[in-house]
Amino acid sequence: MEVVELRSDTFTTPTPEMRRAMADAEVGDDLWGEDPTAIALEGHCAALFGKEAGLFVPSGTMGNEASLKVLTRPGDGVIVESTAHLVLYERGGPGVISGVVLRMVDAPDGSMDPASVDRLIGSANEHTPRPALVWIENTHNARGGRVVALEDVRAVSRLARAAGMRIFMDGARIFNASVATETPVADYAAEVDALSFCFSKGLGAPVGSMVVGSSAFIEELRGVRQMLGGGMRQVGVLCAAARVAIDTGVERLVEDHANARRLADGFADALPGSVDPALVETNMVFVDVGNRNVEAVVEAMAAEGVRVASVGPSVFRAVTHRDVSAADVERAISAFVRTVRAQ
Ligand SMILES: Cc1ncc(COP(=O)(O)O)c(C=O)c1O
Repeated sequence: MEVVELRSDTFTTPTPEMRRAMADAEVGDDLWGEDPTAIALEGHCAALFGKEAGLFVPSGTMGNEASLKVLTRPGDGVIVESTAHLVLYERGGPGVISGVVLRMVDAPDGSMDPASVDRLIGSANEHTPRPALVWIENTHNARGGRVVALEDVRAVSRLARAAGMRIFMDGARIFNASVATETPVADYAAEVDALSFCFSKGLGAPVGSMVVGSSAFIEELRGVRQMLGGGMRQVGVLCAAARVAIDTGVERLVEDHANARRLADGFADALPGSVDPALVETNMVFVDVGNRNVEAVVEAMAAEGVRVASVGPSVFRAVTHRDVSAADVERAISAFVRTVRAQ
């Protein structure tokens, strides 16, 4: 049975074009600064985001953790949304690697309210962690792939800059935000000191992320990447796939977003109230099955070859990506219809 894989956009497998580019990649020792494919990709991404430099890193998590280390000192306070990847899914890295204190703000739609950020900054004194960094995740994964709109980024960025703080964007899915709002990625990048994004999610590459920022920041980041064991050698084989991902994967994200909206409509018809299609802005659909057993729903759908992931006591998520077609979406909706009828 063909599987419809909706657990995450990280499940994409490299396209034939990516595999060919990997086989043909010109390579060198990147730790000696001699991998031409890595150098070209870093330069290309820096220019695309309007920053001075870029650094290829093995994962989004390493990009985040290494950046956090460069941008803070132990004991500093980092203002961040309470369900950000940095808070929930990086194995306590901010405490262990950077020794920072996370000052959390709840934002059900992923966009931190400027007044709450301002309150945290304003309440700082000689007893509190030094407010050093504001962290924005865009799109926001755990809040359903919601976009943090440019004006919301600007409002928070203005406050942070006025307070002499730095601003970082975990833009693992920034291209989804960019395509959904028709906003160039450089406009988002202009509001922050540095930004990380992933090739290995909706863009479809097998491995890799990029951090962009000033030349001085990237130079320090290179040292921290080495400290964390992320220095790589003939990394051009990975950067070649990443280059294909960024060259061919961005424009087609509109299809993923349309597929996600169709999924949301289908799920909402099958189980009214389970999802609000108006909140589906990018490639994620969060479905609340109410008093049904979510694990049983996930299992029943898996038995039909449709894989979704439970992400809460009554919630599962379905994520569209390059390897999910419009026909797959219809199959997923039919499986959900039968599942809710049977339960
Ligand atoms: C918002 C966000 N940031 C960072 C990451 C980490 O990326 P990686 O899995 O490559 O470490 C993820 C992974 O899903 C994510 O959703």
